[in-house]
Amino acid sequence: MKLKSVISVFAFVTTFAASTVAMSSQSDEHAKAAGWNKGGGEQDAALHLKPDLENGLDVFEVCSACHLPEGWGTEEGTFPQLAGQHRRVLIKQLADIRALNRDNPTMYPFALPESIGDSQAISDVTAYIEKLKMNPAAGKGPASADLVKGEKLFKDNCVKCHGETAMGDAQKYYPRLNGQHYKYMKRQFTWIRDGKRRNANPDMVEQIKNFSEEDEVNVLTYVTHIPVPKEDLAPSKDYRNPDFD
Ligand code: HEC
Ligand code: HEC
Repeated sequence: MKLKSVISVFAFVTTFAASTVAMSSQSDEHAKAAGWNKGGGEQDAALHLKPDLENGLDVFEVCSACHLPEGWGTEEGTFPQLAGQHRRVLIKQLADIRALNRDNPTMYPFALPESIGDSQAISDVTAYIEKLKMNPAAGKGPASADLVKGEKLFKDNCVKCHGETAMGDAQKYYPRLNGQHYKYMKRQFTWIRDGKRRNANPDMVEQIKNFSEEDEVNVLTYVTHIPVPKEDLAPSKDYRNPDFD
């Protein structure tokens, strides 16, 4: 690890202790303010700034501690894959996490302006992430899932927003789902259905409110079997990001 990274990780661990305390008093106040896509604020600012990729890599060193240098996240689902996600989606989610519209106590202290910088840092780091190739071995759903039922559920309930091949829609901030780890999607889907992810799209909540556990497993497993376009994938699961030494 580079000396600079050691110093910054130390600084962030110190910040972490302080912000956890600050957050518990803020969260009630912010709970009411949560909404799906109010726009404005850092989201709009970051979208209109010219990104600096060099600083993007510097900021990404912090992110890599959890999301890994390749941006691949983890198969057990704690950390989502960021590689391959639309930049606009990354910007929205980061801005929401910073504004406490989406709860993420693990990441929150590391994502704050005092840790990584203002809207310019959001612009920079998301432009850097946008260039990363995806994990060719993302976590799949269980072999026991029914893919035929999953496909039907997907066509009837998801395609209108996430698209036929689950590519999402950058302009509308609909995330890409293909290539994402199953276990991460499973947690998010349940949280969205049950109202725990406060920045969720209300139309998606409505669409999936009657989904049973079995439906959820079937549809998300189907999603993990939708092929990811080859040009978006890293050459192998052993690929390592050359920007890190
Ligand atoms: C301490 C660990 C940690 C660090 C450091 C971290 N994250 Fe995260 N991040 C997480 C976790 C955990 C989640 C998923 C939270 C959940 O389940 O809702 C997440 C989720 C996200 C998401 C939402 C992804 C999606 O598909 O909606 C984005 C975007 C993101 N992180 C970007 C970043 C960026 C950019 C950085 C660096 C500035 C960063 N993260 C640093 C832990 C971390
Ligand atoms: C009305 C449009 C809409 C429909 C219908 C919809 N979604 Fe979503 N979905 C969204 C949006 C928008 C988000 C991101 C919400 C946010 O900004 O926090 C999302 C987020 C997700 C996520 C979390 C992704 C991540 O990276 O964190 C999963 C998983 C997901 N949707 C799966 C599905 C599945 C499976 C279906 C069908 C059963 C479905 N969605 C139907 C709009 C929709």
